[in-house]
Amino acid sequence: MHLQIIPLLVLLIIGSVYPQYDYDYGVPDDYPSNLALGPSGPNCAPECNCPYNYPSAMYCDNLKLKQMPIIPTGIQYLYLQNNMIEGIDDDTFKNVTDLKWLVLDHNHLSNANIKKGAFSKLKELQKLYISYNNLTELVGPLPKTMTDLYATNNKIAKIASNILEGLENLTIVHLEHNALKEDSISGAFKGAKSLLYLDLSYNEMTKLPTGLPPSIGFLYFDNNKIGNIPEAYFQNFKALQYLRLSHNDLKDSGVPGSAFNVSSLVELDLSFNLLEKIPAVNEGLENLYLQVNKIQKFDVSSFCKIIGPLDYSRIKHLRLDGNNITRADFPQELHNCLRMASDIEL
Ligand SMILES: *[C@@H]1O[C@H](CO)[C@@H](O)[C@H](O)[C@H]1NC(C)=O
Ligand SMILES: *[C@@H]1O[C@H](CO)[C@@H](O)[C@H](O)[C@H]1NC(C)=O
Ligand SMILES: *[C@@H]1O[C@H](CO)[C@@H](O)[C@H](O)[C@H]1NC(C)=O
Ligand SMILES: *[C@@H]1O[C@H](CO)[C@@H](O)[C@H](O)[C@H]1NC(C)=O
Ligand SMILES: *[C@@H]1O[C@H](CO)[C@@H](O)[C@H](O)[C@H]1NC(C)=O
Repeated sequence: MHLQIIPLLVLLIIGSVYPQYDYDYGVPDDYPSNLALGPSGPNCAPECNCPYNYPSAMYCDNLKLKQMPIIPTGIQYLYLQNNMIEGIDDDTFKNVTDLKWLVLDHNHLSNANIKKGAFSKLKELQKLYISYNNLTELVGPLPKTMTDLYATNNKIAKIASNILEGLENLTIVHLEHNALKEDSISGAFKGAKSLLYLDLSYNEMTKLPTGLPPSIGFLYFDNNKIGNIPEAYFQNFKALQYLRLSHNDLKDSGVPGSAFNVSSLVELDLSFNLLEKIPAVNEGLENLYLQVNKIQKFDVSSFCKIIGPLDYSRIKHLRLDGNNITRADFPQELHNCLRMASDIEL
């Protein structure tokens, strides 16, 4: 489905810089199959595997480890997913301060067992995968070199203000399936001036957080409890292209007139809310998802304030199924305004 393809594409493009080390996120078990695991290099923890051709990578996944292995000098890509590791000591990374990728998904890590200084030693860390653990707070402070952070499916309710501050190259952040409220996010991304992709789906936000960087292009808040949108909130994001707010508590009264008329938007998902009217959107919007709301009326002025040779909506796909609306509710001017629409689902 269209909604799923876009972020994947971004990950593929960004991930392709190191194709041979690409951590196939979401399907970790598949990982070693596409890599010729030769005999282990000499400089490797005995229980792990260091491919001869890529001696800077150490694979220690799926080993039922309860503790971190010995990590020898020279390792830059460390794979520890699917173990039972409970903690990280202060000196765990002593030998590898130049570690670039660290994969800790599907372990038993809790904040109490991670020593405060553990991550700050890593002067070159770019990617940290720490999803499916037992964290209640985001770990850190994280190094300034970070680009990607995956910390989904924990119980994170807090991000201390210094954890992410000033991470100028941080690009992709996944925090879905946690227990974050808007106040725990507000201010956390100060100085993250490269942030492009932020997923906060499946959390506990009742309001939109403040202080997100204006560089964001992909912003996902699906499955929260957001009931209203501050006037001009999204206008602050000049690069925002993909916005998702499905499965929230949005009513017409909580959506100011031009809340979603943001000139850069390409795709907007407002499905599974309580809207009775179609909100005004920008002319350039291509995909609008409004299925399962309470929409009763099709008002062309939500898409076109005026209709002319160059003034028309670029909508291609519009979903209105699961509302109280039929083709009989379509106004005459619909086809002049929605000139590009190839697909209107009712
Ligand atoms: C660091 O490397 C040395 C030599 O390879 C090893 O003896 C030591 O246990 C390592 N320390 C850690 C914390 O992994
Ligand atoms: C997660 O933490 C809770 C307490 O905070 C503990 O009871 C539980 O056993 C932990 N689970 C794992 C898998 O470590
Ligand atoms: C951020 O990325 C740029 C370009 O790759 C690099 O020159 C710079 O050193 C990075 N900043 C940090 C803090 O790593
Ligand atoms: C959206 O905003 C633009 C620029 O302010 C305005 O010209 C346009 O009429 C608005 N569209 C709708 C549907 O309100
Ligand atoms: C659906 O719309 C019709 C008229 O457009 C109205 O009579 C009916 O009450 C509406 N049903 C619901 C469930 O709102």
